[in-house]
Amino acid sequence: MRLLVVGAAGRTGRLVLEQAAARGHEVTALARRPVAGPHAMVVGDATDPTVLPAAVAGQDAVVMAVGGSAIVRALAPAMADAGVRRLVMTSSRSVVATRPKLVLDLVWWRFRGPYADLARAEGMLEGGPLDWSVVRATMLADGPARGRVHTDFEPDATGGDWRLTRADYAMALLDVTEDTAMVRRAVGVGGPKG
Ligand SMILES: NC(=O)c1ccc[n+]([C@@H]2O[C@H](COP(=O)([O-])OP(=O)(O)OC[C@H]3O[C@@H](n4cnc5c(N)ncnc54)[C@H](OP(=O)(O)O)[C@@H]3O)[C@@H](O)[C@H]2O)c1
Repeated sequence: MRLLVVGAAGRTGRLVLEQAAARGHEVTALARRPVAGPHAMVVGDATDPTVLPAAVAGQDAVVMAVGGSAIVRALAPAMADAGVRRLVMTSSRSVVATRPKLVLDLVWWRFRGPYADLARAEGMLEGGPLDWSVVRATMLADGPARGRVHTDFEPDATGGDWRLTRADYAMALLDVTEDTAMVRRAVGVGGPKG
């Protein structure tokens, strides 16, 4: 696939770039600063409508390795104009989870702004015409890939570990991107159990 990775300078973004290239995808990175590697590079802000048309042109899919409504607001029309339909966005499990209540109350108190914005971004995708998927992660950590994740489609996790390495998250993002059965679905992802 020809794949645009938005937010490619981030910790998850860099791993998506590496893993996508290793899977044989033709990768373009969009980031506010250059990221070294074999991919094509577009330097710019993902909310900048003057940057996006060239970045999305000719892509088969876009992976937002950073979630947020300002990016969706700019990116979705640019994709629609270019005839690019597939968009996969990172999000957080905390956006929809209700348990464990005490932990969620605490993280919402601490991260209310980002979570509310991710909820807004998810709503924009759900109400729009793109072939979107949302991949809601538990708590991200750096560390080696386990090569497995727990996935489910419930608001509250049905299993798995609350810690997920960014390497495994990158793998899950690419698995979802390649899977047409995931179109217009939100999936929760956590670390593998055991
Ligand atoms: N961190 C967590 O524990 C957690 C948990 C659940 C879900 N998530 C989801 O996973 C995503 C990735 O997390 P992470 O910790 O790997 O992220 P990260 O390392 O903080 O990277 C985010 C990247 O996004 C880039 N970015 C932000 N706004 C941009 C814009 N307008 N245009 C271009 N680039 C932009 C930043 O660019 P600069 O480097 O230029 O600032 C940064 O490189 C989050 O956005 C969230 O949706 C995270």
